[in-house]
Formats: sequence, C-alpha cells, structure tokens
Amino acid sequence: MFITIEGPEGSGKSSVTKKVAERLEKEGYDIVFTREPGGTDISEQIRNIILDKSNTKMDPMTEAMLYAASRRQHLVEKVWPLSNAGKIVISDRYLDSSLAYQGGARGLGIDNILQLNNFATEGSFPDLTLLFDIDPRIGLKRIAANANREVNRLDLEKIEFHDSVRKTFLSLANRFKDRYVIIDASKPFDEVVEDTYIAIKNRLK
Ligand code: TYD
Repeated sequence: MFITIEGPEGSGKSSVTKKVAERLEKEGYDIVFTREPGGTDISEQIRNIILDKSNTKMDPMTEAMLYAASRRQHLVEKVWPLSNAGKIVISDRYLDSSLAYQGGARGLGIDNILQLNNFATEGSFPDLTLLFDIDPRIGLKRIAANANREVNRLDLEKIEFHDSVRKTFLSLANRFKDRYVIIDASKPFDEVVEDTYIAIKNRLK
C-alpha cells in the first residue's frame, strides 16, 4: 500500500498525517512515513539543491527533472522495497506535486510532467492520494507563524503561483477520482485528523 499526501504550502498535511500514523500504529498497522523531495541520502542531497534559496537561476525544466530524479531514487531505495515487504508507505508529497507545481504553476504542462514522471516512476501511481485543500493565503500565514518550518525557494513565489498550485491540485483530484480524496484542511486540527483517519481506514478495508 502506497499512500501520498499532497496540498499547498502550510496545509498542515505533515502534522496531521503523523498523528494519524501514530493512531494506526497503535492498531497494529506497520507504517513507514517518508517525504519528497528527500527520504534517502541521495534524494536529500538533491532536495538541498532544489530548495536552496540562493539558486535563483534554476530553470523550470531543470527543477522538474531534479524532482523526478529525487523521486526515482526514493522509489528504488525506499518505497518499492518497503511496500513489497508489506508495509504501508505514506509519502509527504509525490508525483502530483510535480504535476501541480511544475506542470501547472510553472506552466510546463501537466501532460509533459506526467510523461517525464512516467519514465522516472515506471508508471508507479499511489493507491491513495489525500489532497489537503486550503486557500494558500491561510497556508502561507501558518508557515510564517511556525518557527520550525523554514521558508524555502518555492514558498517565496507570488500568491498567483500558489493559487495556480491549488487550482491544479483540484483539477487533478477530478481527473484521478479513483485514487484521490479531498480533505478540507481549513477545518480545526482535530477534525482534519479525524477526516484523514477515516479516509485511510476506508482504503485499508
Ligand atoms: P517542503 O519543505 O517539504 O514543503 P511542504 O512542507 O510544503 O511539503 O518543500 C517541498 C517544496 O517542493 C514545496 O514547496 C513543494 C515543492 N515541490 C514541487 O514543486 N514539486 C515536487 O515534485 C515536489 C515533491 C515538491
């Protein structure tokens, strides 16, 4: 089982999912929590290049290919072996982030990014994708208020960029209905945790 969590900046997806994972572990499920870009040594090194605020000259296609490279390494070293061993792998972001950020907001085209990622992932789609939907204005405010979350190169994009990310995610949810569940991330934390728990449990049945 491979579950991915997606959404605009500051949607709270990571803290919510960690809470849900703890609850599922208590029930006896074997969960591995990981993240993109990153999750393995090589992928984390690629992550540092992508998110470095001083890399202002990065070309959008270079950015898309670095995300795909980081993703490939993460799949080979971590996601595939662990899910083949029967674990439930939950990844904080995966290929839908590339579709929304690089395909949509950067304007490279959803289908181009899908093609690039089909090569990188050999067509490996998640079983379930949870979209933590929120107005980016609220999300970015949350990030600014959170001392533990460092501001990265993509956070610094204009609000129109983040609006486009959100819009693209919602269109992806419509295109890939069978694997997407939309979570209203503007609700109070405990309610978002409950909705997320229910969405995952429904898929585990
Ligand atoms: P991160 O600090 O992990 O942000 P978050 O807590 O919002 O997940 O940074 C990851 C950034 O990279 C985030 O701005 C989203 C972006 N991103 C892409 O643009 N394309 C991708 O394929 C992925 C995985 C992430």
